[in-house]
Amino acid sequence: MENNRSSWGSNIGFLLAAIGSAVGLGNIWGFPYKMGKSGGFTFLIVYLLLAVFVGMIIMVSELAVGRKTKLSPIDAYQKVTKKFAWIGWLATVAPFLIMTFYSVLGGYCLQYIALNLTELSFGIGATGSEAFGAILTNPFGAVVFTALFMILCMVIVQGGVDSGIEKFNKIGMPALFVMLLIIIVRALTLPNAVDGLKFMFVPGYAVSAGYITEAPDLITVLGTAGGQMFFSLSLAMGAILTYGSYLGKEENLVKNSAIIVFADTLIALLAGIAVIPAAVANGLNNGLARGEIALGGPKLLFITLQDVFANMGKIGPLFGVIFYGLVLIAAISSAISLMETISAHWIDKDLQRGETDTRKRIVLIVSLLIMIPAALVAADGLGSSKFYPAALLGIQGGVPDFIADWLDFMDCWSEGIAMPLGAMLMALMIGWEMSPDLVLDEVAHGDPSEGFKKFYKFCVKFVVPIVMAFVLAGQMIGFFSGSPIIWYVISGILLVGFWIFAAVGNKKDAKVE
Ligand code: PHE
Repeated sequence: MENNRSSWGSNIGFLLAAIGSAVGLGNIWGFPYKMGKSGGFTFLIVYLLLAVFVGMIIMVSELAVGRKTKLSPIDAYQKVTKKFAWIGWLATVAPFLIMTFYSVLGGYCLQYIALNLTELSFGIGATGSEAFGAILTNPFGAVVFTALFMILCMVIVQGGVDSGIEKFNKIGMPALFVMLLIIIVRALTLPNAVDGLKFMFVPGYAVSAGYITEAPDLITVLGTAGGQMFFSLSLAMGAILTYGSYLGKEENLVKNSAIIVFADTLIALLAGIAVIPAAVANGLNNGLARGEIALGGPKLLFITLQDVFANMGKIGPLFGVIFYGLVLIAAISSAISLMETISAHWIDKDLQRGETDTRKRIVLIVSLLIMIPAALVAADGLGSSKFYPAALLGIQGGVPDFIADWLDFMDCWSEGIAMPLGAMLMALMIGWEMSPDLVLDEVAHGDPSEGFKKFYKFCVKFVVPIVMAFVLAGQMIGFFSGSPIIWYVISGILLVGFWIFAAVGNKKDAKVE
């Protein structure tokens, strides 16, 4: 089978694809806002520490398990663990759930490109709230554009690992970078842009200047930064494992991981430098109070920034096209990694049976299957519909986030629960059920130093599981209402329970030593 299995054309091709997976909507609207809100540099430092001590460890582990087994997540976990084989399913269902809303957001990007192109050609434009209001209350349009986005991704993934995914990223990533630089220059030359930089980088400025009313405590920052870091690096969702399974033995996993983490963080910072100053400048220049400027979530991307371009005069829509174009590239490059992860298991299965030509069909079926719940998320329009989850349950008033709309519902199960739990379980599996040497042997093709080995063992056994329990609690507090203490207790119980489960009676029955 191995001879027929796909592989990357080159290490740089792999790197661009992995960076493409990592760089996505999370970088552009998640990172800048969370950084500003959670104390600027404090957040950045916590984020970087987590990226090195936790993110890097999981990234190296996923790449190693993928490359060692040369299998998709479902089969890879089955091969390396007895107790935790089901993590593979977690790492396949989670990307599926993410795709159900990621494709809707990708569809919105297409609509904004179309809007700005119309404005550019015919001078018929719209403010952010007009445009977004119209989009959210037009279920048919949202479903059509979601399907369009899905078709774009499908065609790329059908093209194969090297001639579809790798090719797209080789052109898309450099293009994204150049487009981002153009937007940064435009943003920073707007009057009052500096205040936006202060929001992001000056500790405590978001509160003292009145952008937000209350600074979060350090534990909350840890949860927020951890959740953001995992989502942004595409970790614990099978994507990095799958991309690793197409990687050649001679490539250095530690160095590659470091490059991916560095590039993803750099793009997140650059996106922040483009987006936040533009949004702040436009708000202040139009007489908004600081607390009134929407700097987070879908509003930032689809209302605040559209206003920036609408207020820029004749040339504004051109910047609009460039900006939403770059967001679209970021969304596609992430979505194709999710689609590949979901499809890989069935492609592998067919390969094992000697059927080599079924990729196109499998990817088509996967796309259609995603499209069913995605149509629900699209038609719901962030809860503008009559059939948002809480409405179906007959719950009114004080609705917790996870049932306020279908997008958050899908996000809760994937990013909120499956991701932190998956990472925690993976670390416990490697650290306590099997042995970290499984990963280190695989990494050894790039010959890691003794120092790295010690660092890896310590982190995978202790740091990652404990941090992930905090991240899990942080995510739950965000999605469900109720007292935070309950979620800390539940996370703690899960951690201890799985830790014991992983450690008891192991090694002898581990499949791979
Ligand atoms: N990393 C992507 C982003 O930041 C999202 C993603 C998560 C992609 C998990 C693949 C796997 O938007």
